[in-house]
Amino acid sequence: MSKSPTQSPALFLLALVLLSVYFLVPASAAGSTLTQSSAIAGGEQPQLVSPSDVFRLGLFPLANNTKWFLGIWFTVSPAAVVWVANRERPLNTPSSAVLALTARGSLVLLDASRNNETIWSSNSSSAGAAVKAEAQLQDNGNLVVVAATDEEQQRQAVILWQSFEHPTNTFLSGMRSGKDLRTGALWSLSSWRGADDPSPGAFRYVMDTAGSPELHVWKTTDSDDGHGRSKKTYRTGPWNGVRFSGIPEMTTFEDMFEFRFTNAPGSEVSYTFRDRVVGGSQMMSRVVLNESGVMQRMVWDGPSAAWSSFWTGPRDRCDTYGLCGAFGVCNVVDAVVCSCVKGFAPRSPAEWRMRNASGGCARVTPLQRKCAGAGEEEEVEEDGFYVLRGVKLPETHGSVVDAGATLEECGRRCLANCSCTAYAAADIRGGGTGCVQWFGDLVDTRFVEPGQDLFVRLAKSDLEATTKTNKLVGVIAAVATGFALLLLSLGCLIWRRRKAWRSSKQAPMFGEAFHECPTYQLEIIRAATDGFCPGNEIGRGGFGIVYKGRLSDGQEVAVKKLSAENKMQGFKEFMNEVEMIAKLQHRNLVRLLGCCIHGSERILVYEYMSNKSLDAFIFDARRRASLSWRTRMEIILGVARGLVYLHQDSRHTMIHRDLKAANVLLDGDMVAKISDFGIARIFSSSSSNAGLGDLDCSSTVTERIVGTYGYMSPEYAMGGMVSFMQDVYSFGVLLLEIVGGRRNQRSFNLIAHAWKLFEEDRSLELLDPTVRGGCGPAEMEQAATCIQVGLLCVQESPSQRPPMAAVIQMLSHQQAPGRPRRPVVCTPMSNPAAALIGVQEEVVTSGSGELTITNLEGR
Ligand SMILES: *[C@@H]1O[C@H](CO)[C@@H](O)[C@H](O)[C@H]1NC(C)=O
Ligand SMILES: *[C@@H]1O[C@H](CO)[C@@H](O)[C@H](O)[C@H]1NC(C)=O
Ligand SMILES: *[C@@H]1O[C@H](CO)[C@@H](O)[C@H](O)[C@H]1NC(C)=O
Ligand SMILES: *[C@@H]1O[C@H](CO)[C@@H](O)[C@H](O)[C@H]1NC(C)=O
Ligand SMILES: *[C@@H]1O[C@H](CO)[C@@H](O)[C@H](O)[C@H]1NC(C)=O
Ligand SMILES: *[C@@H]1O[C@H](CO)[C@@H](O)[C@H](O)[C@H]1NC(C)=O
Repeated sequence: MSKSPTQSPALFLLALVLLSVYFLVPASAAGSTLTQSSAIAGGEQPQLVSPSDVFRLGLFPLANNTKWFLGIWFTVSPAAVVWVANRERPLNTPSSAVLALTARGSLVLLDASRNNETIWSSNSSSAGAAVKAEAQLQDNGNLVVVAATDEEQQRQAVILWQSFEHPTNTFLSGMRSGKDLRTGALWSLSSWRGADDPSPGAFRYVMDTAGSPELHVWKTTDSDDGHGRSKKTYRTGPWNGVRFSGIPEMTTFEDMFEFRFTNAPGSEVSYTFRDRVVGGSQMMSRVVLNESGVMQRMVWDGPSAAWSSFWTGPRDRCDTYGLCGAFGVCNVVDAVVCSCVKGFAPRSPAEWRMRNASGGCARVTPLQRKCAGAGEEEEVEEDGFYVLRGVKLPETHGSVVDAGATLEECGRRCLANCSCTAYAAADIRGGGTGCVQWFGDLVDTRFVEPGQDLFVRLAKSDLEATTKTNKLVGVIAAVATGFALLLLSLGCLIWRRRKAWRSSKQAPMFGEAFHECPTYQLEIIRAATDGFCPGNEIGRGGFGIVYKGRLSDGQEVAVKKLSAENKMQGFKEFMNEVEMIAKLQHRNLVRLLGCCIHGSERILVYEYMSNKSLDAFIFDARRRASLSWRTRMEIILGVARGLVYLHQDSRHTMIHRDLKAANVLLDGDMVAKISDFGIARIFSSSSSNAGLGDLDCSSTVTERIVGTYGYMSPEYAMGGMVSFMQDVYSFGVLLLEIVGGRRNQRSFNLIAHAWKLFEEDRSLELLDPTVRGGCGPAEMEQAATCIQVGLLCVQESPSQRPPMAAVIQMLSHQQAPGRPRRPVVCTPMSNPAAALIGVQEEVVTSGSGELTITNLEGR
């Protein structure tokens, strides 16, 4: 604010009458504020520039310079217009434009060539009275009209109007989308009509607040009777406390953007995001609803001076609203994307055969509907719930939400209400709390990764088939684990006794101060693992021994004690690396919880994976039969997604360098999680660039070769060439191993075998016989695709291997895999490099070899 309005009402009057004082502001002097006395006239130069010149406001032309609009754009990218004032009324020439602030505080665009006609107005006039106001373009791209009120000397700034509350087709950091429940104002987007026409087009992006709030894209088409008809084309899914149910990618971008959802009854429902500062530089992004109704998040890539697309919604066919109809569920990985929820069957099988699933599915067995008041005398069997796992929740319009209820309570309520068809947690944090209940058709459900659990109400008889078998398996598993636990705890007890006796003898050395450990104290880890009791050992490999542990709060963890002979870099560098790796978060990466440094000892603490590692399944004669094709496919895709994240989506792109079945762990739900990523990086940081190769084949040479026999790409094994394609190679080997249930090893070259079968058009013979029986034609087709992609990944030349992102597209049938050429089939025996480097042969997953516990205590 400049000077305060003095006690002179005459000045106000003057301002009211004299809207007509104009100064021509030369472009070089363009400031960030417009006052009531400094209207700006015409010209192609920017008229307002934000304080740090991040955004500019001015006139820009479209349609071959025949139409001019007043808009705001990024200074670095003038084509990225983020807001337009006169969307529907273009000017013919910039020279006649006049931008002014009226005495009452309305921002107006006038056309001097048409008698100063108002082309556009912010309509922000305060009722009647004149105010002292100014307009400012801020560094976040918000154009704000502020008025100074002078209440008893207390000067206060009041926002009369701001462009952030009147978005066009773009969301910027700090902007809200949603609804002001007090005024009823909607903060929504509308697409441009066309590339040359910013007037509101066919698509709108609005918050639906009837039910669990979610964002919808609507398409309005003109119909013959002149009334527009609207239909939904896309939903984000409801907010689940962490992200929108249908946009799992949001979790991946958490390090770059902060997402915030506000649901304040009676006040506002809104969603907003903020660009974060990453590695010292401010992220810069925009979310645009384009002319074809696609939401797209674009992030400015400074070095290449271009926008890169981070997310689009809808992102695939399954995001097409209602594609599979009521009670249908869409799975983009399947050849036929639509299927019915268990307990339901296509309403019109003929239409479904013609791939038109929009008619949806109907219930097979009617519900018992035991409701309050009805049928109390008869003995009726209650309904139950089928858990549809890993989905984007169905449309919540009309659903009932209670954030305070527990999930169990939610189930009881649903069962007690005749018309309740399904329920789910309203907030996924802390294992799921709150309650969303659906009362009609379940529409627009799809599988996503990671998805949520949806509890679908079914008649008891439709549920029974599954639960019986599950129960039996459950009982057997419980007995087995119980027995194993008993043995283990006995072992640990003995071990502890012995150690207590030993350590009492070494008491003086214990008094030494522990080194600083930011995350976990050594005592805590020692207590969690019963003093590194061998009975708690769950694995060992080249990098050290892994123990199972339980922290005092009950959380199960895997503790990796890095072996001492691995000479590592100093404390600080190690901490930097660990901190960086701990920041990487993805559903398909094992989470590093923290570390501990003590003397030369380095300990890493991970989340515990109850199903251990993949190799214990696929290479085990009996257990491999328990991995169905569907599970295998999920594992393959999971590993692929984890690698894409490591390679390109995370802020710190890195190469794993030791991908193998033993490094793929499985959680309780058999979700694949890559482990030991970053370990290679820690051990080899002597070659400073290792792990930072480009996505193409540009590569660096590393000094210390890490990796495992059978998974190592030829270029790395021979010359230590590091690139992302090295991981693609390992992934290819792993893929073939998962499909075939056989290990690539000295005595059996799986790649050569797969290639031979592929050449003879018999590639499906590679498929593990234990799953072949359960595979229909669609699964067989998937397996054949997998084998072909696997062979592409193990091509000798890195440039012939597909990047991981393309691998996912091929596996999900969004891109046709090319025909592989002859892969590396040289027998590994004759590979001279294998003899020269200290290659790990295999990982022993359990064992009771010599332990070097004393190293830990004595220092
Ligand atoms: C438009 O406004 C400007 C500035 O006040 C004034 O000089 C000009 O005469 C006006 N034009 C018309 C046609 O009223
Ligand atoms: C744009 O205008 C120029 C000059 O009038 C003309 O030659 C050109 O064809 C026009 N381009 C389009 C796309 O209309
Ligand atoms: C301002 O009000 C006028 C008249 O009511 C209306 O035609 C115009 O669309 C409004 N402008 C904006 C930006 O809302
Ligand atoms: C909208 O964005 C999608 C995804 O990037 C793109 O395929 C489509 O061509 C865009 N539409 C227009 C009209 O630019
Ligand atoms: C698909 O089926 C629905 C009815 O179930 C029908 O209204 C629609 O026209 C069909 N679509 C096509 C493309 O056949
Ligand atoms: C079931 O729940 C709906 C929505 O809360 C409610 O309107 C209806 O009265 C309930 N019906 C019964 C029988 O409780």
